[in-house]
Amino acid sequence: MMHVDLYEKWWIGLGVAMLLIFAGAIGTSGFAASIQVPQPEARIDPKTVTTEGPFVEPGLRELAPGKYEAYILAQASPWKFSPAEIRVPVGATVTFYITSADVQHGFDLYNTNINMMALPGQISKLTVTFDTPGEYPYVCHEYCGVGHQNMYGKIIVEP
Ligand code: CUA
Repeated sequence: MMHVDLYEKWWIGLGVAMLLIFAGAIGTSGFAASIQVPQPEARIDPKTVTTEGPFVEPGLRELAPGKYEAYILAQASPWKFSPAEIRVPVGATVTFYITSADVQHGFDLYNTNINMMALPGQISKLTVTFDTPGEYPYVCHEYCGVGHQNMYGKIIVEP
Protein backbone atom coordinates (compact mmCIF):
# COMPACT_ATOMS: atom_id res chain seq x y z
CA MET A 1 0.00 0.00 0.00
CA MET A 2 1.37 3.39 -1.02
CA HIS A 3 2.24 5.69 1.83
CA VAL A 4 0.55 9.09 1.72
CA ASP A 5 1.85 11.70 4.09
CA LEU A 6 -0.65 13.02 6.65
CA TYR A 7 -0.41 16.62 5.39
CA GLU A 8 -0.88 15.42 1.82
CA LYS A 9 -4.06 13.62 2.89
CA TRP A 10 -5.31 16.89 4.34
CA TRP A 11 -4.63 18.73 1.07
CA ILE A 12 -6.34 15.99 -0.97
CA GLY A 13 -9.32 16.25 1.39
CA LEU A 14 -9.37 20.03 1.07
CA GLY A 15 -9.26 19.76 -2.75
CA VAL A 16 -12.17 17.32 -2.81
CA ALA A 17 -14.17 19.50 -0.39
CA MET A 18 -13.63 22.58 -2.59
CA LEU A 19 -14.78 20.70 -5.68
CA LEU A 20 -17.97 19.69 -3.86
CA ILE A 21 -18.55 23.27 -2.62
CA PHE A 22 -18.06 24.71 -6.14
CA ALA A 23 -20.31 22.08 -7.72
CA GLY A 24 -22.92 22.89 -5.07
CA ALA A 25 -22.62 26.63 -5.81
CA ILE A 26 -23.13 26.06 -9.54
CA GLY A 27 -26.08 23.78 -8.87
CA THR A 28 -27.66 26.27 -6.46
CA SER A 29 -27.29 29.24 -8.82
CA GLY A 30 -28.43 27.24 -11.83
CA PHE A 31 -31.50 25.59 -10.34
CA ALA A 32 -32.50 27.46 -7.15
CA ALA A 33 -31.59 31.03 -8.29
CA SER A 34 -32.47 30.36 -11.98
CA ILE A 35 -29.26 31.80 -13.38
CA GLN A 36 -29.70 32.16 -17.13
CA VAL A 37 -26.84 31.84 -19.57
CA PRO A 38 -27.33 34.30 -22.46
CA GLN A 39 -27.76 32.67 -25.83
CA PRO A 40 -25.76 33.94 -28.80
CA GLU A 41 -28.88 34.20 -30.94
CA ALA A 42 -27.37 35.46 -34.19
CA ARG A 43 -24.50 37.36 -35.76
CA ILE A 44 -24.94 40.94 -36.92
CA ASP A 45 -22.56 43.38 -38.59
CA PRO A 46 -21.93 46.23 -36.10
CA LYS A 47 -21.07 48.58 -38.99
CA THR A 48 -24.59 48.33 -40.44
CA VAL A 49 -26.55 47.65 -37.25
CA THR A 50 -28.04 51.18 -37.28
CA THR A 51 -28.91 51.14 -41.00
CA GLU A 52 -30.35 47.65 -41.55
CA GLY A 53 -31.93 44.89 -39.53
CA PRO A 54 -34.07 44.81 -36.38
CA PHE A 55 -32.00 47.40 -34.47
CA VAL A 56 -32.75 50.25 -36.92
CA GLU A 57 -35.90 50.76 -34.87
CA PRO A 58 -35.06 49.33 -31.47
CA GLY A 59 -37.81 48.95 -28.90
CA LEU A 60 -40.74 46.80 -27.93
CA ARG A 61 -42.76 44.62 -30.30
CA GLU A 62 -45.87 42.74 -29.21
CA LEU A 63 -45.98 39.20 -30.58
CA ALA A 64 -49.18 38.06 -28.86
CA PRO A 65 -51.17 39.26 -25.85
CA GLY A 66 -48.67 39.36 -22.97
CA LYS A 67 -45.74 38.26 -25.15
CA TYR A 68 -43.15 40.78 -26.28
CA GLU A 69 -39.77 41.15 -27.88
CA ALA A 70 -37.50 44.03 -26.87
CA TYR A 71 -34.65 45.04 -29.18
CA ILE A 72 -32.06 47.08 -27.31
CA LEU A 73 -29.02 48.68 -28.90
CA ALA A 74 -26.02 49.70 -26.80
CA GLN A 75 -23.86 52.50 -28.17
CA ALA A 76 -20.86 54.63 -27.26
CA SER A 77 -20.44 58.35 -28.12
CA PRO A 78 -23.01 59.25 -27.26
CA TRP A 79 -23.22 56.52 -24.63
CA LYS A 80 -26.78 55.22 -24.40
CA PHE A 81 -29.22 52.39 -24.65
CA SER A 82 -31.91 52.66 -27.31
CA PRO A 83 -34.59 52.71 -26.09
CA ALA A 84 -34.00 54.09 -22.59
CA GLU A 85 -37.52 53.33 -21.43
CA ILE A 86 -39.89 50.43 -22.08
CA ARG A 87 -43.43 50.01 -20.73
CA VAL A 88 -45.14 46.63 -20.40
CA PRO A 89 -48.20 45.42 -18.48
CA VAL A 90 -47.73 43.23 -15.43
CA GLY A 91 -47.46 39.55 -16.32
CA ALA A 92 -45.70 40.32 -19.61
CA THR A 93 -43.09 37.90 -20.87
CA VAL A 94 -40.34 39.81 -22.64
CA THR A 95 -37.54 38.33 -24.71
CA PHE A 96 -34.61 40.74 -24.85
CA TYR A 97 -32.35 40.93 -27.89
CA ILE A 98 -29.24 42.96 -27.20
CA THR A 99 -26.33 44.01 -29.35
CA SER A 100 -23.70 46.73 -29.49
CA ALA A 101 -22.92 49.12 -32.34
CA ASP A 102 -19.31 49.58 -31.29
CA VAL A 103 -17.49 48.37 -28.16
CA GLN A 104 -18.29 45.80 -25.49
CA HIS A 105 -21.12 46.90 -23.19
CA GLY A 106 -23.12 45.16 -20.48
CA PHE A 107 -26.80 44.83 -19.73
CA ASP A 108 -27.93 44.17 -16.16
CA LEU A 109 -31.66 44.34 -15.43
CA TYR A 110 -32.25 44.87 -11.70
CA ASN A 111 -34.46 42.49 -9.72
CA THR A 112 -34.46 39.89 -12.49
CA ASN A 113 -32.03 37.18 -13.52
CA ILE A 114 -31.10 39.10 -16.70
CA ASN A 115 -27.40 39.88 -16.84
CA MET A 116 -25.52 39.70 -20.11
CA MET A 117 -22.90 41.33 -22.30
CA ALA A 118 -23.77 43.49 -25.28
CA LEU A 119 -21.17 42.53 -27.86
CA PRO A 120 -20.53 44.05 -31.27
CA GLY A 121 -21.30 41.40 -33.89
CA GLN A 122 -23.52 39.25 -31.69
CA ILE A 123 -27.19 39.36 -30.75
CA SER A 124 -27.66 38.00 -27.22
CA LYS A 125 -31.02 36.80 -26.03
CA LEU A 126 -32.69 36.25 -22.64
CA THR A 127 -36.33 36.03 -21.54
CA VAL A 128 -38.02 37.16 -18.34
CA THR A 129 -41.60 37.40 -17.06
CA PHE A 130 -42.53 40.50 -15.04
CA ASP A 131 -44.92 39.34 -12.30
CA THR A 132 -44.53 42.40 -10.06
CA PRO A 133 -45.38 45.96 -11.12
CA GLY A 134 -42.75 48.65 -10.66
CA GLU A 135 -39.61 50.05 -12.20
CA TYR A 136 -36.78 47.79 -13.27
CA PRO A 137 -33.66 49.85 -14.02
CA TYR A 138 -31.04 48.55 -16.40
CA VAL A 139 -27.42 49.62 -16.55
CA CYS A 140 -24.28 48.99 -18.52
CA HIS A 141 -22.02 47.06 -16.17
CA GLU A 142 -18.98 46.85 -18.44
CA TYR A 143 -16.69 49.87 -18.50
CA CYS A 144 -17.00 51.17 -22.06
CA GLY A 145 -15.49 54.66 -22.08
CA VAL A 146 -15.93 58.15 -20.61
CA GLY A 147 -19.74 58.07 -20.92
CA HIS A 148 -20.17 54.63 -19.34
CA GLN A 149 -22.10 56.06 -16.36
CA ASN A 150 -24.70 57.56 -18.73
CA MET A 151 -25.79 54.15 -19.98
CA TYR A 152 -28.97 53.29 -18.14
CA GLY A 153 -32.66 52.92 -18.72
CA LYS A 154 -35.71 51.31 -17.19
CA ILE A 155 -38.55 48.90 -17.77
CA ILE A 156 -41.81 50.17 -16.31
CA VAL A 157 -44.16 47.34 -15.44
CA GLU A 158 -47.65 48.77 -15.20
CA PRO A 159 -50.35 47.23 -13.00
CU1 CUA B 1 -21.63 50.78 -22.06
CU2 CUA B 1 -20.47 50.80 -20.01
